[in-house]
Amino acid sequence: MGAPANLPSEASVCQRSLSVPKITVLPQNQVIDAAPGTTVFAAARGIGIDVDTACGGKGTCGLCRVKIISGAEQLPPAGFEEKKFIGTAGNLRLSCRIAPIGDITVDVPKPRPKKKPGGPPPPASPPSSPIR
Ligand code: FES
Repeated sequence: MGAPANLPSEASVCQRSLSVPKITVLPQNQVIDAAPGTTVFAAARGIGIDVDTACGGKGTCGLCRVKIISGAEQLPPAGFEEKKFIGTAGNLRLSCRIAPIGDITVDVPKPRPKKKPGGPPPPASPPSSPIR
């Protein structure tokens, strides 16, 4: 005896509960199968995508911003850290604070250039008006 016509079969229920969120990272167009609870930050860095950070994913620097292209409904509501750094407008989120429960697509901005320790100081900017 099979499942009634209006209920999903056991196989489809099992497939759904075992599916893992897919995170598509742009502009690299890399697709990551993320274990449940994995943040976008950890997933992206786990495959070598450089996400800007100064805090290493602790939610205290606000640098790991990503733009949500699709799947915003698969994310938890913005928490305190995100509201503090980003506010509530737009479709930006802190990648270290979001672990999707379904498929999402994010755009990861290019990280800031890294400072070289002990490197030369930046060149002085020219004066804005002639010195008299
Ligand atoms: S890595 Fe610092 S806030 Fe996300």
